[in-house]
Amino acid sequence: MSCKVLMVTSFKGGVGKSTVAANIALRFACGGKKTLLVDCDFRMRSLDIFLGVENAIVYDAGDVLSGNAELSKAVLIDKRNNNLYFLPAPYNWQEGIDSKKFADMLKKAQELFMLDYIVLDTPGSSGMEFSAAAEASDMAYIVANHSFPSIRAAEVTGRELEKMGVKDRKLIINMFDMSGRDSGKKPSVVEIIDRTYMMLVGIIPFDSKMPILQDEGKLVDSVKECNVAKAFTNICNRTEGKNVPLFTGFKKINKNKLLS
Ligand SMILES: Nc1ncnc2c1ncn2[C@@H]1O[C@H](COP(=O)(O)OP(=O)(O)OP(=O)(O)O)[C@@H](O)[C@H]1O
Ligand SMILES: [Mg+2]
Repeated sequence: MSCKVLMVTSFKGGVGKSTVAANIALRFACGGKKTLLVDCDFRMRSLDIFLGVENAIVYDAGDVLSGNAELSKAVLIDKRNNNLYFLPAPYNWQEGIDSKKFADMLKKAQELFMLDYIVLDTPGSSGMEFSAAAEASDMAYIVANHSFPSIRAAEVTGRELEKMGVKDRKLIINMFDMSGRDSGKKPSVVEIIDRTYMMLVGIIPFDSKMPILQDEGKLVDSVKECNVAKAFTNICNRTEGKNVPLFTGFKKINKNKLLS
């Protein structure tokens, strides 16, 4: 299989792009796929914290792009699964990003590590990181949370990606309220798809454990039995082309109510 480059994006901040990128990348790796996770948030990186490697970074993508370090020196191998590689972002990067250099760096990584997937985590805005990532990507997963403003942002992001030639664009709804308590006040699944004009690749429930796990440098593999973990597995299986019905493996949910 040739390497697929997948960007996880939205013009809206805080919707869970980094959470989704990190957990999808680990899921691919656990499924035997050699995967490179790239933090493209060159001004406000966070994946190093989410992966628990904040103190292990010596070089980063900025050093590679500016020729100060070899790619092999900047990439870390994850302790959870050695199919997962991680390229950290620089911190507070003030220079621009040359999209061609960025794409060349990813090409080199594909060859060096014989990758199946590259997952790009972008910041919550348009700008140099978004453009560089979009130019290098085969597909985009646009993350929205369960609210009207973030759904509008997903729609705008999708349109911009279309203009930039990223044909394969799909939607992930994160922090979905599984209780169904506010149905009527919150957008329904059908309404979200209608508004964004995008195919849905997965719904990830809201789970208050997530921020706590991330502060400890843990991903959802450490809480295998929860619905959030199932959601990431389902998204990866769908990416691999498997037909996986919505909410497969979820426990204690009222599927009909959630889909109404
Ligand atoms: N499914 C979820 N359930 C509960 N909390 C979540 C979920 N997904 C993400 N979060 C929390 O939401 C916050 C924002 O997540 P994250 O940093 O991944 O968003 P982001 O879109 O990457 O933000 P930014 O735009 O700043 O890069 C974090 O505290 C994270 O733990
Ligand atoms: Mg982020």
